[in-house]
Parts: sequence; C-alpha cells; structure tokens
Amino acid sequence: MSQKKITIIGGSGGMGKVFGRYFKQHGFDVTIYARNKERLKDVATEMGVNYEFSLEKSVKKADIVMVTIPIKSTPEMIKKIGPYLKENALIFDITSIKKAVFEALEDLKNTFPVNCISLHPMFGPGIKDMKNYVMLVLKIGGTNKYEIIINDLLELFRSDGLIITETSPDIHDKRVALTLGVPHMLNILFLNLLKNADEPLNELTKYTGTTFLLQKVFAESIIQREMEMFGEIQMENQQFHAILEMFEKLVKNYRKSIENKDLKGFSEIFSEGLDYSKEDNHFKNSYKYFYEFMKILKGK
Ligand SMILES: NC(=O)c1ccc[n+]([C@@H]2O[C@H](COP(=O)([O-])OP(=O)(O)OC[C@H]3O[C@@H](n4cnc5c(N)ncnc54)[C@H](OP(=O)(O)O)[C@@H]3O)[C@@H](O)[C@H]2O)c1
Repeated sequence: MSQKKITIIGGSGGMGKVFGRYFKQHGFDVTIYARNKERLKDVATEMGVNYEFSLEKSVKKADIVMVTIPIKSTPEMIKKIGPYLKENALIFDITSIKKAVFEALEDLKNTFPVNCISLHPMFGPGIKDMKNYVMLVLKIGGTNKYEIIINDLLELFRSDGLIITETSPDIHDKRVALTLGVPHMLNILFLNLLKNADEPLNELTKYTGTTFLLQKVFAESIIQREMEMFGEIQMENQQFHAILEMFEKLVKNYRKSIENKDLKGFSEIFSEGLDYSKEDNHFKNSYKYFYEFMKILKGK
C-alpha cells in the first residue's frame, strides 16, 4: 500500500489527526482538507503532511478518501465528492452511526466506478497504540477490484493488531446505541441528578468508600469528551430513540416497586439484570476488577 495518495476530509479534527499520523507512518502521501484554513495549515505543518483548500482538488488526486467529519454532515459530503473521485478510488467514513452513511455510500458505488467501505474505530483521539482495539467494518462494494483494494487496507490494520469485526448497518446501530449511547446517557444523567440534588461533588465524595467513587470518576471522564459528537450518537440513531423509550418504561416500573415497597418486584428487576450478566466473560472477575480500579483511585 506504500506511496498511495490518501486525502482525509476532516483531517484537522481529533480522529483526522490520529489517522493522518497513522497513514503517514505507513508511507502514504497524506493530504488533509477541512473548512477552517488556518487550523488546517497549522495541523498539516505540525504533522508534516500536505493540505488542500479546494475540496475538489484534494479528492481528485486521491487513491483513498477518508471522511472524518461530524455524523450529520457525512452523507452530504459523500454525495458531494462523488463526481470528483478517481476511477477505482477507495472511499470510507468512520462515523459512529451507520444507517444514513451506508445508504449514501451504496448510492455512490451505484453511480460511480469507485469502491466503498464504512469503518467505525472503537477508540477515540487519545489512542496511542491501536493493538487489540476493534475496528467495525461494513462492506459496501464497488468495482471488480473491490476485494483486492479493501483487503489491502484491512490487512494493514490487521498487521497493526487491530481486530476487524464485520457487521451490518442495523446490527451496528443497535449495538452502538447500547454500547455508546446508553453509558453516555446514564453518566450524563448521573452527574445531572447529583447537581439537581444540590450537593457539592467534593462533599459527596467524603461520604463514599467504593461504588460512588468509581462511578463518579467514570462519569467525569465521559463528561469531558466531545459534547457535539456524543449528542449526535444519541440523536441521529433511530435505534437509540427506541432504547430511550424502553428506558423510560423501566424507570417507571422501578419507581413503582420502590414507592410501593414491593420487594418482590424489586427482586425481579434485580434478578433479571443478574441473570443477563452471568453469561458475560467478565462476570466472574468483575468484583476483583472493581477493587483493582479502586487501588488506583485510592493511590495504593
Ligand atoms: N472522537 C471519537 O472518539 C470518535 C471515535 C470513533 C469515530 N468517530 C467519528 O469520527 C468523526 C469525526 O469525529 P472527531 O471527534 O474527529 O470530530 P472533530 O474533532 O470535531 O473533527 C471534525 C473535523 O471535520 C471538519 N469538518 C467539520 N464539518 C465539516 C464539513 N461540513 N465539511 C468539511 N469538514 C468539516 C473539521 O474542521 P472544520 O470545522 O475546519 O471544517 C474537523 O477537521 C465523526 O463522524 C465521529 O462519529 C469519532
């Protein structure tokens, strides 16, 4: 794959920089594009890669085009660059929600002689080493060179220890609603609930041994992340909307069992959670892990 030209649309952003560095290290000729020219130039200089102010020019010369811009804008961008793409070019996005992007890429490969794949790296801009992290992959299709072209890219990721997991848009969006949307929501709500109860966090922390401390640190790590993207992950995913409805029903039910002092009802909810998690690989050692994390937090 060396000496190939890759253009990264959104190359001055968090994930754009991660992949810009990655492809440069692997011998690609990297060009980045974004709207804010000053920032684009600064980032390109800092990373030692090319930049291009014209979207059309940046795409025309590329063998591979990566789109790493906010979720909402991605389908439109895919549509826009279609006429500029080189024959047999490979195009991929890395958005956290797939339904609309998958449809846009399908339209693209049906209209132009290009190759499309949709990726979702299961890591954020803080990543240092991709080894053992997961890359979700949705194959879309393209020209008669499709398999060779996408396998070159996937083999490159595999050679760096990335775990490639193939999926489909429906399964992807449902699972990501549960693995990203739900923990984000619960932790945002956790901090807001404490805030509404009008107790300073430092004071509350004085009243905790273990559970609260770990939960608080986890929530604090989430609330410092990219607000806009976290909002999009929940708002743009129809499957998250369905889960939100399920959640409301569950809370109502839970409240009823608490207010009615219904220990049987409470035990049913509790046992359902317990039975569900028993089959999980981490279950047996979870309590042990919990105390390992605690050692770090207690500074031992
Ligand atoms: N952050 C994560 O943890 C993570 C993990 C996995 C996947 N992703 C996915 O990666 C993508 C990018 O996320 P990020 O966190 O890197 O975002 P980010 O830091 O906000 O970067 C976004 C980049 O896109 C550019 N941009 C924004 N709107 C644009 C538009 N309409 N046209 C052209 N360029 C545009 C921005 O520069 P200008 O504003 O100057 O144009 C910037 O370079 C998202 O789709 C997200 O779902 C993120």
